[in-house]
Amino acid sequence: MLDRQKNPQLNSHGELKHLLTIEGLPREILIAILDSATPFTGIAEREMKKLPLLRGKSVFNLFFENSTRTRTTFEIAAKRLSADVINLNINTSSASKGETLLDTVDNLAAMQADMFVVRHASSGAPHLIAAHLAATGREHIHVVNAGDGSHAHPTQGLLDMYTIRHYKQDFTGLTVAIIGDILHSRVARSQIHALTTLGVPEVRVIAPKTLLPTSVERLGVQVFHDMREGLRGVDVVMMLRLQNERMNGALLPSPQEFFKSYGLTPEKLALAKPDAIVMHPGPMNRGVEIDSAVADGAHAVILPQVTFGIAVRMAVMRMLAGGPA
Ligand code: NCD
Repeated sequence: MLDRQKNPQLNSHGELKHLLTIEGLPREILIAILDSATPFTGIAEREMKKLPLLRGKSVFNLFFENSTRTRTTFEIAAKRLSADVINLNINTSSASKGETLLDTVDNLAAMQADMFVVRHASSGAPHLIAAHLAATGREHIHVVNAGDGSHAHPTQGLLDMYTIRHYKQDFTGLTVAIIGDILHSRVARSQIHALTTLGVPEVRVIAPKTLLPTSVERLGVQVFHDMREGLRGVDVVMMLRLQNERMNGALLPSPQEFFKSYGLTPEKLALAKPDAIVMHPGPMNRGVEIDSAVADGAHAVILPQVTFGIAVRMAVMRMLAGGPA
């Protein structure tokens, strides 16, 4: 049983107040987010107009690291819920003048922020902000982790689960493979926690030894070093980007060598189930982890992932800060 007092994401009623990581979140909360995202897909696809659920609220997008998809889809999601959105690109603002993270947060909180959407290169930065807000009596401000170091990227994990459920309906009969740079991937960690919490019976990770965290099996996954073996019979193929910017020293021979062993080609994909779906969180390195013929092929659901991401981020923000339906 989860100790709710110790989970900084939940209030004393067990409700979500911050979204920092999928690890330790109850299955019911994950399902509630996925279920409530469904009616928002019409808005994400612009078939419906925006909703007033966050009217009058200020959402601060606090990105200390580059982003295209995540920042933009958070912005669209907040706007379609009628929030005021303030985008801060910290590379060009006060952090570059030496201001500390918590001083930046204090100043933005003084501007009456209701929510911080935070991306940071340091694992734990969103937790630090949430703890600081709690310690200074400003717990009404919600924090959403939009990717911290190699730790977690919970909304990516959730939008991936939404995508899987959309195409496969049910989690309980699936074999899912996550392939590539697991070691540096916050996305992989969030995917693994989400998949195991939602009852996927077989989660495989496929990677060279140098790109796997030690004791990764403890997360409830099966390890494969041979991609052909690992792909056999899978329903869902989740590719990851090779995170060159997070590598210290040479963990790999060369991108060409990596592609030979771990790049997804049509020939390797043929080992998966005939109706397998191929996912990628983006940005893709074509010819490094994925062949263009697969990225643009009939099995790929990579662009639908992006659109579902808007609906799922709407669902998260609404759960945290929205009024009743
Ligand atoms: C990922 C990220 O930034 O964590 N991208 C994303 O948010 N869609 C994955 C990556 O950088 O490889």
